[in-house]
Formats: sequence, C-alpha cells, structure tokens
Amino acid sequence: MTVRPTRLLVTGAAGFIGTNFVRHALAAGIDRLVALDLLTYAGNYANLADLEADARFRFVRLDVAARADVARLVVEERIEAIVHCAAETHVDRSIGDHTPFLRTNVDGTIALLEAVRGQAGFRCFLHVSTDEVYGSIAEGRAREDWPTRPSSPYAASKAAADGFVQAYATTHGVPAVITRCSNNYGPYQFPEKVIPLFVTNALDGQPLPLYGDGMNVRDWIHVEDHVEALWHVLGLGETDGRVYNVSAENEVPNRTVTDRILALLGRPATLVRYVADRPGHDRRYALESARLRATGWRPRRSFDEGLAATVDWYRDQRPWWEAVKSGAYRDYYERMYASRLRAGRDMP
Ligand code: NAD
Ligand code: TYD
Repeated sequence: MTVRPTRLLVTGAAGFIGTNFVRHALAAGIDRLVALDLLTYAGNYANLADLEADARFRFVRLDVAARADVARLVVEERIEAIVHCAAETHVDRSIGDHTPFLRTNVDGTIALLEAVRGQAGFRCFLHVSTDEVYGSIAEGRAREDWPTRPSSPYAASKAAADGFVQAYATTHGVPAVITRCSNNYGPYQFPEKVIPLFVTNALDGQPLPLYGDGMNVRDWIHVEDHVEALWHVLGLGETDGRVYNVSAENEVPNRTVTDRILALLGRPATLVRYVADRPGHDRRYALESARLRATGWRPRRSFDEGLAATVDWYRDQRPWWEAVKSGAYRDYYERMYASRLRAGRDMP
C-alpha cells in the first residue's frame, strides 16, 4: 500500500462535494490543503470560511481553466495530488447553455492536466466524474468497462473530460485515476438539485415540481460515503487512468424520494406538482461498484438514515439556504419553473 499524498489541491472546493471532501481530508490529518474555486453561482465561500483558522488550509479564488495561474499554483504549493471536483454540474442548465460546461468541464480539466504534466513529485490526478457518462441504464448496473453514452450536454462534457484524463495518462504518463459516482445527497448541496430543492420548498410550503411521471430512477449515495471513497482511492496509489464506480447500489424512483421527504417533514402530498419533463431525461441510473468494494471501501449510510439526517440539516440551516436561494437564484427558478408549474398537474 502506497502512502497517501500529503499536499493536496482540491478544485471546486466551495461546492457541495468539494466542501464535504475538504472537511473530511482536514479531519483525517492532511498536511496541506489548497482549496481552489471560482465561486460561481454554485460555489459558496461561507462553506469554508471557518477553515481559514487552520494553518494547513489555504483558499484561492481561481478559474480552473486559467492555465498559467493554475500551473503556477501547482508549482508554488508543491502539489502532490489533485482532487478535481470543479465543474458545471446541473443537467437542466446544460440544456439551456452548454458553453460554461465545455469551458469548465473540458478546458478546465485539460488546464489542470497540463499543469501537472511532467511535474516531478506529482503523484495523483483524481478526476471526480459521474455515472451519468454511461447514460440511461435499461437493465442491470453499469460497470467500468461499459461504453459511455451521455444523454445531456452535462454528461457529454464529463465523458469528454474523462477521455482527456485517460489520454493524458496514456500519452503523457500523468498519474491519474477516475471515480464515477452516482447521485449524491447530504449537507451543502445547492438547492437546484432535486433533494435540497424539494426539502427547502416543502419547508416553505411551496410546490415540488416532479418531472414527467415521477418514475425516473436515481441511484442515491450519501456525500460522506462518496468523500470516504475519494479518500480511500487516493490511498490506493493506482494511477494508470483506471476507473472506479462509486455507488451504494440504492436505486429509488423520484416519486418515492418525494414521498419520503414529505413524510419526514410532515407535509401533505398536495404539494407535489407533476410538470413537463426534462428533454432527454435519463430514465434510470444504476451503478455497480464491485471493483472499488474489492479494495475495501463500503458505503456506511442507509438511504433512510442519510435522508433523515439531510432533512434535519436543511431544517436547521435555514439561514444557509435562504441566502443561497436569494438574488440570481430567484431569476433561475422563475425561468426554469414558473410556466411549468402553471401548466403542471396535481396528480399523475
Ligand atoms: P457543485 O455544483 O455543488 O460545485 C461545483 C463547484 O465548482 C462550485 O463551487 C463552483 O464554484 C466551482 N466551479 C465551477 N466552475 C469553476 C471554474 N471554472 N473554476 C473553478 N471552480 C469552478 O457540484 P458538486 O455536486 O459538488 O460536484 C462536484 C463534482 O462531482 C463535479 O465534477 C460533478 O460532476 C461530480 N459529481 C457530482 C455528483 C452529484 O450528485 N452531485 C455525482 C457524481 C459526480
Ligand atoms: P437532479 O438532482 O437534477 O440530478 P440528475 O439529473 O443529475 O440526476 O435530478 C434528479 C432527478 O430528479 C432526475 O430524475 C430529475 C428529477 N427532478 C425533478 O423531478 N424535478 C426537479 O425540479 C429536478 C431538479 C429534478
């Protein structure tokens, strides 16, 4: 077993998974952690502000696609490993405008790969990818050797980035590994994604816009299980560009997720509004994670306990999400949902 790298750069550190990973790595005793984030609409410096008191931690506001600045930072900080979380991540936004997805997810990933190419002492580029690259799974669970068949511009940009990571590993010898995780939920998730959106809307007595027939299936994992997997993979020392799926193998239809949220909050089913479907909406995600489990990782949280804890977190953190749901978020919500909700139905 190789020793885990001790000087880390985490990109997208002020986002949902980045925040949870940074907190995990510091608690686990990392020597140096440089947190990079552009602070787009999805990045929230408040998630990390209390960590500035820790001498091991440094926050840098930077665009991952800014090649020269990123390369300088890697050298200056003698970075040994990158956990690359920075991305544009919302499928619905990618349908409206793919351009920031191409720039951040593809050009940004290439900028980081260029920054570490040929750097002596650099040991691991951990590319945080998604099960959405496999597309909709009609039967069974996707394995790492399945072809990528992205449906949305978001998934296409992630699949392209995965390809560049593998190309740089093969062609330039960049030490790299790719994780593809299923849908995450937990604290600090931006309330454009379905679970925090529905929890915060339900807390405010607002409608829950369920797409289509509500029977699309997602494979849910608690974010803490995901960040434990990332930490575990960093310690494996396998850097030949191989892929690890990360999943709790927990497939749940959206309607069931919605019912559970309403039950946990004691809110009525009349809040549910069936609205026009997302174009190209993948019907089902399901991911096999036997390869990672064989190395000793296991998810530790059941969906019932994880969802209840998440609902409690949002109930307790109203100031956090009220701040996030103000300003530009209101315009987004209006654009995305106003006419859909007006045309929607109460029952399927
Ligand atoms: P998020 O949208 O919450 O956070 C993304 C972060 O990246 C934000 O802090 C944002 O400010 C930052 N960012 C965006 N563009 C940037 C740029 N050009 N330069 C620097 N920073 C930039 O996303 P998340 O849910 O935390 O996802 C993190 C990663 O995990 C993504 O790569 C995503 O594809 C992947 N992933 C997410 C899930 C999920 O369910 N959330 C599942 C599997 C994989
Ligand atoms: P989302 O959280 O956007 O994640 P992803 O599309 O990356 O899987 O959506 C999860 C599921 O919830 C997906 O099937 C779409 C559905 N959904 C709704 O029904 N209503 C909504 O308002 C949103 C945002 C998503």
